[in-house]
Amino acid sequence: MSSRFVIPRPSWAGRCAAFDDRVFGAEAWPLAVWEHELGSTAASYRVLVRGGGIAALPEILALGGVSAGVDAEILTLGVAEAARGQGIGGELLDELLEIAWAGGAEQVFLEVRAGEAGAAARHLYGTRGFEIVGERPNYYHGEDALIMRSTLGNREHYNPRH
Ligand SMILES: CC(C)(COP(=O)(O)OP(=O)(O)OC[C@H]1O[C@@H](n2cnc3c(N)ncnc32)[C@H](O)[C@@H]1OP(=O)(O)O)[C@@H](O)C(=O)NCCC(=O)NCCS
Repeated sequence: MSSRFVIPRPSWAGRCAAFDDRVFGAEAWPLAVWEHELGSTAASYRVLVRGGGIAALPEILALGGVSAGVDAEILTLGVAEAARGQGIGGELLDELLEIAWAGGAEQVFLEVRAGEAGAAARHLYGTRGFEIVGERPNYYHGEDALIMRSTLGNREHYNPRH
């Protein structure tokens, strides 16, 4: 069954919060944050969904967001556990980066776990030209975060769509 990106409206806040909770557990954003974020113009969110129709809601495979501005930030990026390792995270990251570059970003930042739990994400970000530019000690309740950055110059080099 084919998947597609959709823009989650504020009415999707509950579904996004539930997905976020499954992927990030204690680090997930509360429902009130999702309600605020999905109604805000300061950031863009995308969900990759599969299926759905008249009687059924589509299944959320992945959820991510990026802030607007010259210095943009990947705010969240998660793929359903059963759907990992198939390139979906890369597809979503490419979509978010295109939104950022098209919106005038010159660089995009993100924070990622410094330990083993962040290994897949760090690898994924590296494939899109992100480099480590700093660290935030103890950012994740006892685990350090690395700050990574990709610049506009990487756009064509790392995105197969260009
Ligand atoms: C990180 C995440 C989004 C990746 O999603 P995904 O759909 O599995 O990503 P992709 O399939 O596009 O790519 C994953 C890459 O990481 C690699 N990888 C997987 N596990 C790895 C590990 N433990 N160490 C290093 N690389 C790993 C894969 O081989 C693949 O690289 P390749 O394309 O060069 O082979 C997903 O694992 C996830 O949601 N994790 C939990 C939430 C999270 O950590 N989000 C990031 C917050 S900063």
